[in-house]
Amino acid sequence: KQALNIVKMKKMKEEGTPISMITAYDYPSARLAEEAGIDIILVGDSLGNVVLGYDSTIPVTLDDMVYHTRAVARGAEHTFIVADMPFMTYHGSIQESLAGIRRLMQEGGAHAVKMEGGAEIAPVVRAAVQAGVPVLGHIGLTPQSVNQIGGYRIQGKDAADARRLLTDAKALEEAGAFGIVLELVTEEVAALIAKELSIPTIGIGAGRGCDGQVLVYHDVLQYASPYRPKRFVQTYGDIGTLIKDSIGRYVADVKGRVFPAEQHVFSADDGVMDTLYGS
Ligand code: KIV
Ligand code: NA
Repeated sequence: KQALNIVKMKKMKEEGTPISMITAYDYPSARLAEEAGIDIILVGDSLGNVVLGYDSTIPVTLDDMVYHTRAVARGAEHTFIVADMPFMTYHGSIQESLAGIRRLMQEGGAHAVKMEGGAEIAPVVRAAVQAGVPVLGHIGLTPQSVNQIGGYRIQGKDAADARRLLTDAKALEEAGAFGIVLELVTEEVAALIAKELSIPTIGIGAGRGCDGQVLVYHDVLQYASPYRPKRFVQTYGDIGTLIKDSIGRYVADVKGRVFPAEQHVFSADDGVMDTLYGS
């Protein structure tokens, strides 16, 4: 049973209680996030970048998402899990889109799905909601459209862009989304969207006015080599350095015959070796 659901999330917004979300991609990351007290786990298609080594989220497939979601669900049995619908899996027929969503929930074990886009995806959001699926929207910088946007740039700088973001946010709320991720949106515009909507906004690089925050697991922990610092991220650990140093010490101990030591080895019963050498 999950500690959180979309009804409680809306109440958190009304009460002014911030919502914490982090990505996770496998059993240990999900389990550690749950034990640390996170509100929501996102199985983000950012796994394409941080786990699979692609340079964008575009190569990530529905099979990848199902596989990782299933591992996360095994690790975090009491946490609300949102899974990303990957590139171009929700732009064909509604029927095809719903089939993908069904896989993330039935095979993956997600409790909700996230889809990138504004008013143009309202029909598929509405269809999913009508089928009983909690849908999280995602506007601002939408990485699946990076080749159209022309890079990872800040959204909502000018009035026209701000107006478009607000219109998209309202269209998603109207279509039944339970919340919206705002990625790389100027603080003023994100705060306005948060104020105008009754559903929670969860920001990443979107300032202090959002109802919640989301960060990528590998960013929080600097779990990469090399780790490239991002302005909107606060790091809380340096796992990359810890891992490299630890493996380096292991290598040195093997080369120096320091490992294995006495406490790591197993002995045969008394007399056994005499028997073998004597035979
Ligand atoms: O894939 C992801 O990690 C995301 C978050 C950045 C919101 O979509
Ligand atoms: Na994503």
